[in-house]
Amino acid sequence: MDNFNFYSPTEFVFGKDRETECGKYVKKYGGKKVLVHFGGGSAEKSGLLAKVRKSLEQAGVSYTELGGVQPNPRDTLVYKGIELCRSEGVDFILAVGGGSVIDSAKAIAAGTLYEGDFWDFYCGTPIEKALPIGVVLTIAAAGSEGSGNSVITKEDGLLKRGTGSDLLRSRFSILDPALTQTLPAYQTACGATDIMAHVFERYFTNTKEVEITDRLCEAVLLTMVKEVPRVIKDPDNYEACANIMWAGMVAHNNIVGVGRQQDWNSHGMEHELSALYDCAHGAGLAVIMPAWMEYVRSHNVMRFCQMATRVFGCQMDYENPDATALEGICCFRRFLKSIGMPINFDELGAKAEDIPVLVEKLGIGDGRRAGFMELDRQDVTRIYEIAVKAKI
Ligand code: NZQ
Ligand code: ZN
Repeated sequence: MDNFNFYSPTEFVFGKDRETECGKYVKKYGGKKVLVHFGGGSAEKSGLLAKVRKSLEQAGVSYTELGGVQPNPRDTLVYKGIELCRSEGVDFILAVGGGSVIDSAKAIAAGTLYEGDFWDFYCGTPIEKALPIGVVLTIAAAGSEGSGNSVITKEDGLLKRGTGSDLLRSRFSILDPALTQTLPAYQTACGATDIMAHVFERYFTNTKEVEITDRLCEAVLLTMVKEVPRVIKDPDNYEACANIMWAGMVAHNNIVGVGRQQDWNSHGMEHELSALYDCAHGAGLAVIMPAWMEYVRSHNVMRFCQMATRVFGCQMDYENPDATALEGICCFRRFLKSIGMPINFDELGAKAEDIPVLVEKLGIGDGRRAGFMELDRQDVTRIYEIAVKAKI
């Protein structure tokens, strides 16, 4: 196991109706003038925003609002948010929504206190200060409620890029599983795929002797395999929603990834898909991640056998371990298909002829991307090609 620091300072407030306490938590963490940031309409329609407003008013906290965050959040709204925070003297941002709203809130939080262009942070400039943020989560997916990351798309050129800093970690995150019961099955499945991908990005490692994190990863994956079909079948199943919601946090606050090298190449390749086609991040991952697995499996076939046997219950074929590895990958793809995810370019709405563009935008040049297996331009091209033709 490698040396590590683990820092996860967020206060998680979990359970039914806990969103009615958001005013109290904003106050606890020093918010006096709040920007309530939200998405395209679901939070208004479900009555969640009304509850948030009431809670803030009861706590005596004044607020202003900015809605309209789109999935794959854009820089244009971030600029608007920064202006609003400055002109209104906002000192705390409350994100009410999913990963897109939270990531947009994080960008505004850092951008408001920065004299330059906030996009600098997404091109490598370190974040030195940021307004505090809080979260009321409405979808189990990106894990942004427990991570220090933010991913934003620059409309000009469709560049989807990420940044990270402990300063972006939420002061508190309210997780009420009942809020996820209004999600369409497709969004639930996209979120579930993202959660599993966050675990797999950490699971496929070259670090030896990481039994504790291997087993934690497998626990999250097994939970997803059990609970997701239950929620797809019955969105009102509170207990299944609760398990998935907590799994989404555990999958990405890095507790399952400490002390080990991680991969993240599937995420890199996916971000180019969701930038170009504006597809859901989880749907893009459903197409890319099994293709990546197929391509890299020979790098350490026994690690794929471990996934196949421990997570998907495959029989180990000691004469032909590659067959077991492939069976595990096939089980993952079958699972994704069964919950309604696309598994190839066609089903996602992506085009094979765009592969050179996707590869170019990854900016590999003549180098290699680090990870479980290092990838050059040819490798990445080949993975996209596998994703074009994938079937069950
Ligand atoms: O905008 P509204 O109307 O709210 O609709 C949203 C949106 O259309 C809807 N939705 C959310 N909660 C709902 C609901 N509809 C009904 N009932 C509810 N309770 O779901 C749609 C998707 O929402 P979004 O926030 O985009 O989903 P998600 O949480 O998957 O976030 C995706 C974004 O997060 C980034 C992705 O790249 C993508 O841009 N990621 C962020 C990460 C991070 N910050 O750590 C890590 C991830 O790997 C990921 O890259
Ligand atoms: Zn993700």
